[in-house]
Amino acid sequence: MTPDTRSMFDPKSYSKVMRPPLQAEPLPGWCYTSEEFYRREIEQVFSRNWICLGREDALPRVGDYRAFEFCGKKLILVRSAENRISLLDNVCRHRGTLLLTGSGNTNVILCPFHHWGYGLDGVLRGAPAMEQTEGFHKSDYGLRAYEVTLWNGFIFARLVPGGPSLEEAMGDMDGLVATYKMGDMTCARQKVFTVACNWKLFIEVFMEDYHLKAVHKSSIAGTYTAPEPLERLNGDFATIFNPHQGTSALLTGEQHLALPPIAGLTGKAAAGTRYLFFYPSFAYACTVDCMWFFEIYPEGPSRTRVAMNMCFPRSTVARQDFAEKFAAYEQRWDVSMKEDLVVLELQQQGLETDQYSPGRLSHLEPVVGMFANWLIRHAVEMPRDARS
Ligand code: FES
Ligand SMILES: [Fe+2]
Repeated sequence: MTPDTRSMFDPKSYSKVMRPPLQAEPLPGWCYTSEEFYRREIEQVFSRNWICLGREDALPRVGDYRAFEFCGKKLILVRSAENRISLLDNVCRHRGTLLLTGSGNTNVILCPFHHWGYGLDGVLRGAPAMEQTEGFHKSDYGLRAYEVTLWNGFIFARLVPGGPSLEEAMGDMDGLVATYKMGDMTCARQKVFTVACNWKLFIEVFMEDYHLKAVHKSSIAGTYTAPEPLERLNGDFATIFNPHQGTSALLTGEQHLALPPIAGLTGKAAAGTRYLFFYPSFAYACTVDCMWFFEIYPEGPSRTRVAMNMCFPRSTVARQDFAEKFAAYEQRWDVSMKEDLVVLELQQQGLETDQYSPGRLSHLEPVVGMFANWLIRHAVEMPRDARS
């Protein structure tokens, strides 16, 4: 049952969530269903942390842009210079018209209504017939630009400035995945879909081994062995390393279709898969030959748009046999994702009832508990001033 606002944002309501995973309860159902809790997450969690908005190579040329919606804002992601990506408001400063739709290439962001024209950096360059307007200075009317940081070919942005840099927030994560050389990778396929579940459910299932035997019995469960014990690391992330033979990006039994491993992989990275979750919404997996990751765009408490991206070293994509072998990788991702989506929508339906009261967690899903802990700390215990 959804509590009143006061108890929803009272840390005491989450005392059992905040225990170590094997003593804890999962989050209460309202965290996945309540509009009010969702709004708090957008304001305190999504707007104030570093969010992955995809790969740089999706915008290869200066002027390439993508208009999209995130956290209730209309935004433009644009390559504004050779080594620079900008995230700008997509709303005209004159009288509010939406500037761009879809994606494409342009050298000016031109408002369709009265032709105010903005540079790719958001600066207002042209505003016709404004010379008689008193005290009007173009420099006062640029598009708001948000913080953007590039990391290993990924684009990260933060809507509300302040707090740790991307590097500080990542802590040990950067060093942990350096051996995969993700900056040398390119995206071979992006698949965008919408799922009728809360954004947290989508990430939680990615970060736990508990469902493998039930949900992925004949597709991928046979690839994996028991995950290693959790490593003690610094940074706003959780990781699980799963040792196994070959690549985990093919269906069990299809290792003969494997593409070559990433050159120079060192340590245990050469023999298993590392699942990572940089809070609050960047989930990715690195295996011996490739990496896949999700961009998460919540559309309400019970609806999430996801962009799934499959990335390989450039040298692998350039191989003659890539297209043929890649088909088997696509099959693995499509089959296992479909299996997950079925249970996720069933889980959301159960959580929407007033009949659920939280159970307990297995040792095979510690990250579910760790993330719940992080989320409650950021959304409930120490929310930051919304005006800062
Ligand atoms: S609303 Fe954009 S130029 Fe008038
Ligand atoms: Fe799964």
